[in-house]
Amino acid sequence: MGTAVKSVISRRTFVAGSGDLALAALTPSWPAGAASRYTLVAAAGSALLVGGEYPKTSVWSYNGTVPGPEHRVRQGERLRVTVENRLDDETTVRWHGVCVPNAMDGVPHLTQKLIAPGEVFDYGFDCPDAGTFWYHRHQCSFEHVGRGFYGPLIFEEPEPVAVDRDVTWVLDDCRLLADASISGDFGNMMDTGMAGRIGNTVTINSRLPDTFPVRAGERLRLRLINAANARIFGLKFEGHQPQIIALDGQPVEPHAAEGDRIVLGPPMRADVIVEMTGAPGGRFRVIDSFYRDREYRLADFVYSDWPLRDDLRNTAIPLPDNPLAEPDLGTAERHEVSFGGDMTGGMMGAGMRGGTDDMMNGGMMGEMMRRMMRGMSHEGVWTVNGVSASGHVMEPTLTLVRGRTYLLALHNDTAWRHRIHLHGQSFRVLSRNSRPTRHREWQDTVLLAPDERVEIALVADNPGDWMFHCHILEHQASGMMGVVRVA
Ligand code: C2O
Repeated sequence: MGTAVKSVISRRTFVAGSGDLALAALTPSWPAGAASRYTLVAAAGSALLVGGEYPKTSVWSYNGTVPGPEHRVRQGERLRVTVENRLDDETTVRWHGVCVPNAMDGVPHLTQKLIAPGEVFDYGFDCPDAGTFWYHRHQCSFEHVGRGFYGPLIFEEPEPVAVDRDVTWVLDDCRLLADASISGDFGNMMDTGMAGRIGNTVTINSRLPDTFPVRAGERLRLRLINAANARIFGLKFEGHQPQIIALDGQPVEPHAAEGDRIVLGPPMRADVIVEMTGAPGGRFRVIDSFYRDREYRLADFVYSDWPLRDDLRNTAIPLPDNPLAEPDLGTAERHEVSFGGDMTGGMMGAGMRGGTDDMMNGGMMGEMMRRMMRGMSHEGVWTVNGVSASGHVMEPTLTLVRGRTYLLALHNDTAWRHRIHLHGQSFRVLSRNSRPTRHREWQDTVLLAPDERVEIALVADNPGDWMFHCHILEHQASGMMGVVRVA
């Protein structure tokens, strides 16, 4: 798409988490009273994304790495992060999925002043929930997150599930040119009006993945974070049955994904337990088959010749609940929220609906482009309840009374997928197209298929003005955002 060039780049063994490929037992432990104080320096730099004969890629990053450093904090501890802005542009940092006080939410204009070039800002908040979260910039994020401003944020349970390794995979896709530089066509009309910016080079922890060494009998906790602007992943671990134990940082009854494919839209997370049931010396593919006819091998699990143990661990894997307020559906107040503004409306025959943002080709694309060029100015494409957000002062789409339960019926009135994210609180996903969900999962983002209706419920217990937006960053930037006020 666009100026993107097919990635030409050879694959290699990739680096997991902080670079530790050692196979020794590695269970997270945190010395009591450990300081959870960090500094994040936001600056332009370069990173080795592809390696080999390719030069480094210019990125915008925290502390010089993409992803930024993985912060690990114990549940209940206070996290303090000093953000230093060494970019010649303003910035803020947002703690995605964490129930922070409103003033710490990192949304420019709505919750804080921008951090000017050369300035410093101190974030500080308690970490009420254990789980897998991440941080990213929240201003023009379609370009800034796309260029590297993001990193993982882990709040550890006091008693974590017993595993041999706890590994974070931050998934992203870059749109790279043939010289390994990031294509500068951010926010172009085609991405904005359609599926968002889908890159041509998928990375794990910002490196081209290839082999991931494992050992028979090993138990892995894999924390998957989708930091891409728009790409959805559908991961299958051939020969293995991963159990999902948390979604968006929140514990869920352990279960295998539907069709054994873990679907992860941006900005979602899934914690999965993978038991290494293969034989020593084996090799198994991890594939991404989300987009129709676009399946590819993401990585291989490669078993060493020596098992770690002869039998699997057989200790329990459910996570303890986080302290979230349970919605009282008997007293819930119901609101409808619809997401609209589809520029391609009318182009979509029945057959297309349901899969429009599979990458497309042919004359349909050309016609759609022509329509969009005619009908669309750069901003104000997508809407929430008929309003396309622009500027920084936003009237709330909804005003909720603190402490009450709300049931929000969300409707995707477009032929594209959207990832609807609410700041400040997690919600239960109750039903999809009137069918109750199996796990009533807690999420901070819900994937809406074209035309889909999803009901979510929450207790409005975190006061403030909270963003409510599509996390396809191009859709957010062009109007699909609103504010939910809890007062
Ligand atoms: Cu991950 Cu409003 O953001």
